[in-house]
Amino acid sequence: MKCALILGTRPQIIKSAPIIHAAVKCSEMQFEVVHTGQHYDYEMSKRFFDEMSLPEPVTNLGVGSGPHGWQTGEMVMRIERCLLSLKPDIVVVPGDTNSTLAGALTAAKIHLKVAHIEAGARSYDMRMPEEINRRLTDHCADLLFAVTENCVKNLRNEGITEDWIHQTGDTMYDALLQHMPYADKDGILGKMGLEGQEYAVLTIHRPENSDSVQNLTNIVEAMMSLDELKIVFPVHPRTKNKLSEAGLLKHLKEAKNIVLIPPVKYREMLKLTKHARLLFTDSGGLQKEAFWLNTPCVTLRENTEWTETVELGVNVLVGAKKELILKKARDLQSRKEGVIKNASSNPFGDGKASERILQILVNDEKLDKQ
Ligand code: UD1
Repeated sequence: MKCALILGTRPQIIKSAPIIHAAVKCSEMQFEVVHTGQHYDYEMSKRFFDEMSLPEPVTNLGVGSGPHGWQTGEMVMRIERCLLSLKPDIVVVPGDTNSTLAGALTAAKIHLKVAHIEAGARSYDMRMPEEINRRLTDHCADLLFAVTENCVKNLRNEGITEDWIHQTGDTMYDALLQHMPYADKDGILGKMGLEGQEYAVLTIHRPENSDSVQNLTNIVEAMMSLDELKIVFPVHPRTKNKLSEAGLLKHLKEAKNIVLIPPVKYREMLKLTKHARLLFTDSGGLQKEAFWLNTPCVTLRENTEWTETVELGVNVLVGAKKELILKKARDLQSRKEGVIKNASSNPFGDGKASERILQILVNDEKLDKQ
């Protein structure tokens, strides 16, 4: 059986890593990784292949950055050529990026089977490119690997055939469990002089924040007002450009409580998150990682796909309103609300999602051949 997994961005590499490792060991499967080139900086892509000891992609399509239509269209053309030559039995696409949608759409159009990892996640916010990508990908897919019970319900509500849906758990949780022993030994806190210190971590990359001068200004002002707390800010390249264009980067550089750093490695981020007093983020993945690591999360969005983290009291949604960010951050710090409940059950699975996914892929192929 031949599988082609299509990825292109930092979080896709992380959530695919446990599947790639499991597939390499699986004698029944030939597994090839195709990189679209959506993320191309060393620190957004290659670094994660190295850190997670992943085999090189069979090809990098080198698409790079551009407007959504152009980027997606360019990917579709290049992926089509690639899949016609690789001839896989099934195409696996993780997550919700433009690379995910382009992979699923191309495969469906040339009548290849599509499997979607992280199916059924919904924010119900159609302004998010990721929401469009997820919905369309799910409706191109033949095998839908849903993370939670909620994701399964979302797919049922959209009329997806029950037999195609499999609740597997979250491969990001598998990755965290595999890498946490190394992350615990990582020296980033010592290197940054943060050992034993109270600090928060900030990440911003969603277009709704990074492409809005108003939202960026509100978030930056809120962070600078929290001057009792050191804030470590690994800056995504998109956000860095936008902060610079808006004239905000120089304020951040001058602020005494803000520590600007380039994007960090996966294990460094896990270590930083685990020991932080608070996390401020608009990332989907980090909301779950904060939950697993028992760190209170202030989400700089109006909605989330991962509502379980809010229901379990470790995550609050604040959007990009300065006063609300400040209020919730101070409440969470003094633990007036959002007290961590140390959830006894993890709605995101048991750390064996990747094994389950591989097994389903192999069995599905056997059924097809019968
Ligand atoms: C993408 C995904 C998002 C994911 C995120 C993780 C889509 C629609 N969005 O957003 O779901 O959570 O990746 O990071 O697919 N850039 C660089 N170097 C890089 C990559 C990007 O400088 O290696 C900059 C460029 O300025 C580029 C901008 O980032 O114009 C946007 O890149 P884009 O491909 O839209 O991805 P992200 O914003 O990272």
